Amino acid sequence: MKSIEPLPWRFDVGPLRDQLARNPDVWNRHRERTEAYATPHKAVSDIWVRYGDTPDACARPHESHWYPCVTQIPAAWSLARRMYRLVGGKRLGGVLITRIPAGGEVKPHIDHGWHAAFYEKFAVQIAGNKEQAFQFEGESLSAETGESYTFRNDRLHWVTNPSAEDRMTLICCIKR
Ligand SMILES: [Fe+2]
Repeated sequence: MKSIEPLPWRFDVGPLRDQLARNPDVWNRHRERTEAYATPHKAVSDIWVRYGDTPDACARPHESHWYPCVTQIPAAWSLARRMYRLVGGKRLGGVLITRIPAGGEVKPHIDHGWHAAFYEKFAVQIAGNKEQAFQFEGESLSAETGESYTFRNDRLHWVTNPSAEDRMTLICCIKR
């Protein structure tokens, strides 16, 4: 299996982009992940829309639930549910929004733990252009706004965004 593959569906991300623009306070309420992955000067931001109860929940089996911020960005719920139906989901885990700023990057890493291993990862590009790239050894995908893909975060991966625009992604963790 490839590490990253485009999916055939294009999503209308306009409503989510509008909601994010109106609610800047939803970003970075949980710093554990971004502090682990971000470079200090051009920090990665994220929103935990749905996840386990505690930051360390990823290590062991747990049920995810929607976080309070979903009331401010309900389009994230809609997009995740739509992806869930399209891929034939049986169980919905975490839903995360990441933002890698213009000129920023995520360094090469592998995601470990129960949550990363149990669920498949499906992504909707909320903002993306051809200059940014989700990269694996020998593979790369530059998904544009509204495009979708699936990827393996249990393999070494990194993200580069030398473009002038922030890159934003909705990541849905789904068991089929
Ligand atoms: Fe990762």
